[in-house]
Amino acid sequence: MTSVTELEVNGERRKIDADPQTSLLTVLRDQLGLTGTKFGCGEAECGACTVLLNGQPQRSCIMPVSLAAGKQITTIESFEKDGHLHPLQQAFLDEQALQCGYCTSGMIVTASALLRHHPDPTDEEIIRYMEGNICRCGTHHRIIAAIHRASRLIAS
Ligand code: FES
Ligand code: FES
Repeated sequence: MTSVTELEVNGERRKIDADPQTSLLTVLRDQLGLTGTKFGCGEAECGACTVLLNGQPQRSCIMPVSLAAGKQITTIESFEKDGHLHPLQQAFLDEQALQCGYCTSGMIVTASALLRHHPDPTDEEIIRYMEGNICRCGTHHRIIAAIHRASRLIAS
């Protein structure tokens, strides 16, 4: 059974037609064409599907879309503005903090929330905050460096 729901995604109101139990990730990717958010494990274990809900990182793979209605949903597609990469995107490129890139949007989305709470985080704060985001390519050291670099970019 489907029902029409209105979502607020990246500042725009979007109507969708889906079973209320459908995952937010499926709706974002398959109905709204926002494929920057990735399907990894589907079990809330890897962080590839992370989006912000009212500014807080959430696993969209296990979130029924009905629970996202009425909240501000932010996906990686909103990070670049007017042709300018977000400092985190730029820093991930500069530090070469990715290989396959599959984890990257979830990493950047999660790190954006970290930097909002901790503008100049220590290594330990980064590791603790990011521990739910897994990189199978083993770029974690570069990801830490990229988050430090983004912190400096934002402050400058
Ligand atoms: S796909 Fe959602 S946490 Fe892995
Ligand atoms: S860059 Fe491949 S999973 Fe992280």
